[in-house]
Amino acid sequence: MSIDFSAKRLSYEQGELDEQGLPTTPYPLIQNWVNEALEKYQGEAYAFFLATCGDDNLPSVRTLLMREIVSLDDDNIGLIFYSNYDSQKGQDLDNNPNAEALFFWASLERQVRLTGKVSKISREQSAQYFHSRPKDSQLAAWVSTPQSGVVASRDVMNERFENLANQYQDSEIPLPDFWGGYQLTVEKIEFWQGRANRMHDRIVYQKNGDNWQILRYLP
Ligand SMILES: Cc1cc2nc3c(=O)[nH]c(=O)nc-3n(C[C@H](O)[C@H](O)[C@H](O)COP(=O)(O)O)c2cc1C
Repeated sequence: MSIDFSAKRLSYEQGELDEQGLPTTPYPLIQNWVNEALEKYQGEAYAFFLATCGDDNLPSVRTLLMREIVSLDDDNIGLIFYSNYDSQKGQDLDNNPNAEALFFWASLERQVRLTGKVSKISREQSAQYFHSRPKDSQLAAWVSTPQSGVVASRDVMNERFENLANQYQDSEIPLPDFWGGYQLTVEKIEFWQGRANRMHDRIVYQKNGDNWQILRYLP
């Protein structure tokens, strides 16, 4: 038995990306693409896939929500996201900070890959974001630990949630030690624009010392 997709194909004709007019650093271009995705892409344009690989040498990938994309002092890019530090991804990142983030905005026929190293952001910044979330999401962070651990049933989760809701009925929910933000500091970023006849455009910014080198890759 199988499901056969081999005759299914789309021609990508929404746009093009050429060297003319490219910024010398990548932030203005990613800013532009993210803003266009927020405007035109149906769905969560700020959702991305993060690939990690711990010391077991087994890669894993999952969807996360980007919470901020920052232009850093030295023309670098920082991508901020939040998670449980004891999760599978958290353990992977403790062992190996190298990671890759990927956005795919299907209707725009665009993909962006950001490669770099991930580090934890400050507790102050994590606390600020944590307390800006709806109270139920804050409680859920306390329920879901260690994230990616096994739980006996949905009932166990619900009971934990109710107990915590009672406990913090009249007080601020503290930021858990095991929860917070991460920053992917980008060393390489690839902009992919689909083109007709599989002759896609791939423009890569690669950090080279203090400068960004701009390359075109074969599709
Ligand atoms: C649309 C979407 C958004 C998500 N956003 C987050 C997020 O921002 N942070 C997070 O920890 N998990 C998020 N998740 C859940 C993760 O994909 C994943 O299941 C969880 O983080 C555990 O991953 P791990 O076992 O690889 O650590 C999201 C899932 C989806 C489908």
